[in-house]
Amino acid sequence: MTLTPQFLDELRARTLLSALIGKSVKLQRAGREFKACCPFHNEKTPSFYINDEKGFYHCFGCSAHGDAIRWMTDQRGLPFMDAVKELAQTAGMEVPAPDPQAQERAERATGLHAAMERAQHWLEEQLAGIDGAEARTYLKKRGISDKTRKAFGFGFAPDSRGRLKAALKDFGEDTLIEAGLLIAPEGEREPYDRFRGRLMIPIRDQRGRVIAFGGRILGSGEPKYLNSPDTPLFDKGRTLYNLDRAAPAARKSGRVIVVEGYMDVIALAQAGIEEAVAPLGTALTEMQIERLWRMTETPILCFDGDNAGQKASIRAAERALPHLEPGRSLRFLTLPAGQDPDDLVKSGGRQAFEALAVSPEGLADRLWRHEHAAEPLDTPEARAGLRRRLNAHAKAIGDGDVREQYFAEFRERFDALYGQRRDFRPQQPFRPRPGGRWQPPERPVSGIARTVSQEGTDPAMARLVFAGLLDHPSVIAPHAEAISALQLGDPALEQLRTTLIDAGLTIPHLDRALLDPILAAAGLETLAKRLRTTNRLAFSAKRSNADPDIIRRDLALTIEALAIRPELDAALAAATARLERETDDDVFEELRRLRAARDEAEARLAALKQGDDDAGG
Ligand code: UTP
Ligand code: MN
Repeated sequence: MTLTPQFLDELRARTLLSALIGKSVKLQRAGREFKACCPFHNEKTPSFYINDEKGFYHCFGCSAHGDAIRWMTDQRGLPFMDAVKELAQTAGMEVPAPDPQAQERAERATGLHAAMERAQHWLEEQLAGIDGAEARTYLKKRGISDKTRKAFGFGFAPDSRGRLKAALKDFGEDTLIEAGLLIAPEGEREPYDRFRGRLMIPIRDQRGRVIAFGGRILGSGEPKYLNSPDTPLFDKGRTLYNLDRAAPAARKSGRVIVVEGYMDVIALAQAGIEEAVAPLGTALTEMQIERLWRMTETPILCFDGDNAGQKASIRAAERALPHLEPGRSLRFLTLPAGQDPDDLVKSGGRQAFEALAVSPEGLADRLWRHEHAAEPLDTPEARAGLRRRLNAHAKAIGDGDVREQYFAEFRERFDALYGQRRDFRPQQPFRPRPGGRWQPPERPVSGIARTVSQEGTDPAMARLVFAGLLDHPSVIAPHAEAISALQLGDPALEQLRTTLIDAGLTIPHLDRALLDPILAAAGLETLAKRLRTTNRLAFSAKRSNADPDIIRRDLALTIEALAIRPELDAALAAATARLERETDDDVFEELRRLRAARDEAEARLAALKQGDDDAGG
């Protein structure tokens, strides 16, 4: 059946949307529009609007949005063609006659659908039968409940080249090959079952029909997952696993989460988070991103913290840029390296996921973090490179207003860091290794620092700082470089530092609730508790007149002051030595500046100690 865009436009134009919707929903007039309590989500005050002129409905509560045809498919649940036919009948329009080729395609698709459905039933039976024992054990071991197994239609493909083929022989080999269920080898050899000895996961289209399968090997082996090839029913680049179940759930919760694999989707659903989808083993395509945007304005991408996962995030970010619009973006959750959502909910339940999900990272933040960490920024050329990469991202944005904002945002951040070069930063910049665990720098931050930092950071100050960081983990990431420069000399504190920086750099919006389990896992609970109880003076939120923002600012300034002190001392020593040789104004000026800087750092630390004594007394 070929429906031209002109036909559909005419159909929309001849359909009075308010009359159509008014058949099943009570409408109130609102100026030139109508409003109603939204039929797509529960509400008591109307936020669902219908505009007859534009032919669109829109809900400001749940973002449900569409035209007359969409209303028929989404609210009435009709297949597209049936929706068109019904609307055409009301509008007194003749639906164009089907063209024979399209008719044939449609019939073939019907055959394929039937074959897939039968395959699905058969695979489920195999899982329940004698051959399925090992697969059932595997599911149990993975913590998948019977309810989840049924809801997601798990099956099992026996380790045989001909069992499925025999069971579905009525459909004919050609259909089974076209459906991707059989592999047709070159030459005269017999077609055989594609999936053998695998746990089977049906992949459904938006209407819930099985269009493909994913098969996981039981235990280890290659490949771990095997998916159906692209077929007339299945286009990998357009399909999102679990879209049929996630779309209604996303309407209710107002969010949609994209994870890497179907097992993650299933684990999240079992934990009570039903609005998750996954691509099928490929990077997110633009078509998939567009599809996500039809569900919510800012889908959340939650990929593994490992290299591959983070690459996939950036890839998706770059694909989204040309299509951003005001209010339409992506957000990101970065999981600790080596953990996927499945692991996360398995160990910490829904809570663990929701705790991470409260504050996903924005697209601009994510790009900035990626580019900023991409390479050391210790030369002007490297910094210019960062500048250029950021601008290239901004430039890729199609929408003028959004593009302008990105340029401005990136420039501001860049200037804040590199606009006026600060003099006493360690010369070897701190560089988190993406995906890897943070390691203390191998060499002291500079040669000079080594000569003067023998005595190290004042231990009492160091404990105070770490007590502060435990209560205000958000300070860690922006000051990781300075924290790493502290000369601790206490192995316990050093281990704590490694863990804190590691967490700070991998977990966006780190807070106490997220940090505590990490400390416990690293065996640092006791140390943390001791630090918190004995040092909760200067940086404690319990301090009277404590404004958390001011505490965090003081903490950050203290860390920076502690970190640059050895450098300042060294620079002062060097400048004093130079004074013996040359006495031009420059040297005096530098000495003056250095002394002022040192005095300021000194005063800041002294004030803090003072506060410490006061509070302690
Ligand atoms: P992962 O290797 O992260 O799998 O691949 P996973 O979801 O954690 O699986 P489990 O927990 O070990 O069972 C993520 C996704 O990449 C695709 C699959 O879609 C998988 O869900 N993939 C992975 C493949 O298509 N083929 C493979 O061989 C591996
Ligand atoms: Mn996994």
